[in-house]
Amino acid sequence: MSDKPFRTDRSDEIYKRAKNIIPAGTQTFSKGVTQFVEGFAPKYLHRGKGAYVWDVDNNKFLDYIMGCHPIILGYADHDVNQAVIDQLELGSTFSLMNELEVDVTELLIDKVPCAEAARFGKNGADATTVAVRISRAVTGRNHVAYCGYHGWHDWYIANTDLNSGIPDFNKQLAHSFTYNDLDSLEQIFKQHPDEVACVIMEPLTVLEPRDNFLAEVKKMAHHYGALLIFDEIITGFRFSMGGAQELTGVTPDLATFAKAISNAIPLSAVVGKKEYMFALEKTFFSFTYGGDCIGLSAAKACIPKLEREKVPEHLNVVGTKLKNGFNELAANHGLEDFIECIGYPCRSIITFKGQGKYNDLEMKSYFQQELLRHGVLWAAYHALSWSHKEHDIDITLQAYDAAMEGFGKIVKNNINLADQIEGIPVRPVFRKVADFNSYTREKKV
Ligand SMILES: Cc1ncc(COP(=O)(O)O)c(C=O)c1O
Repeated sequence: MSDKPFRTDRSDEIYKRAKNIIPAGTQTFSKGVTQFVEGFAPKYLHRGKGAYVWDVDNNKFLDYIMGCHPIILGYADHDVNQAVIDQLELGSTFSLMNELEVDVTELLIDKVPCAEAARFGKNGADATTVAVRISRAVTGRNHVAYCGYHGWHDWYIANTDLNSGIPDFNKQLAHSFTYNDLDSLEQIFKQHPDEVACVIMEPLTVLEPRDNFLAEVKKMAHHYGALLIFDEIITGFRFSMGGAQELTGVTPDLATFAKAISNAIPLSAVVGKKEYMFALEKTFFSFTYGGDCIGLSAAKACIPKLEREKVPEHLNVVGTKLKNGFNELAANHGLEDFIECIGYPCRSIITFKGQGKYNDLEMKSYFQQELLRHGVLWAAYHALSWSHKEHDIDITLQAYDAAMEGFGKIVKNNINLADQIEGIPVRPVFRKVADFNSYTREKKV
């Protein structure tokens, strides 16, 4: 291990100003100091272009976080930016409705199998929350069965360990089930007969659905009188243009989209079958920026470009090269018992297994530190974009090779891992989250 090849003075100065006036120091937990080796990693980014970012000290990194996934085309995409600039010249939010609302609704209906109607929000949690509210409105039931992460609102966060300030009754209304475990879902229906309004789930995570899991979930939800909601906030426009529902052929009743829909200009959408969506004529979902034209103009430019450039196919190609390359390197370094790249190529993650010798978060911290040293900004997942080209994957694999070389020496020479971390290791956001099989998301936005 050599000295840190970059300075973070300006980052540190800004953070000094922030930490006593911004609670938690950050607006988004997974961008804050607890998620990056504190004392080593940069803290503030200044600009981005394509797959690269520059921090406030002007250090350049190849980014695999991409704003926590929304930047699917790349930073400062010319076409999306131009659409937004043109719209800004016309006005951003108006006093009456705007045609863009209809244009983007039509685009979604065209691309997403379950979409017969749409409404818009700004954050993903707006969309998941209104989807749950629709299901409660149409079924007259209160309980929710969920699998995955769905946002910051009471109904979801109640069952995590960051639930202070959330009335306790929420805990009794939301129940998590395990991916690929139909029995765990059925248990919820049996424990709360005629009370479950919906099943909301991330349809594809890092696990492949087994034994027709998604179709079986749909059958079970309908059997017990509940709606099926796919939370496609990560999968939408990434796994396939029409999301996981297009890829798997399982069409839900409602679905939520955000992130890639507009290349990170804030916009989210709830879409679904008309018979349910039109509950929104009597169910309140309305706010000042609901029809904000900035996000809508970005989506109107982004969605056709994703299709034109065959972005999901591109992600699959570069993602396969990255995933296979990582696992081959791990095997070459004799580290396959400790590290593995798993999941779908368009969004794979690295798992760490300490094998009773190492702490997983310290392993993650070590790899993060070494990748930063080699110019890669990373949080253990690969949020690939259209701007990540084959040569960027080569650069990344070289960085992984160097990090594995270092870790291999630690293993071989019985070196204390904690001593090799040049700062405070990464900390978990939630200690208690819904577990889905071997894959537990330790990091949330
Ligand atoms: C699957 C999923 N659903 C919902 C959300 C919440 O979206 P937001 O943070 O934009 O509110 C996220 C955010 O990461 C997510 O990954």
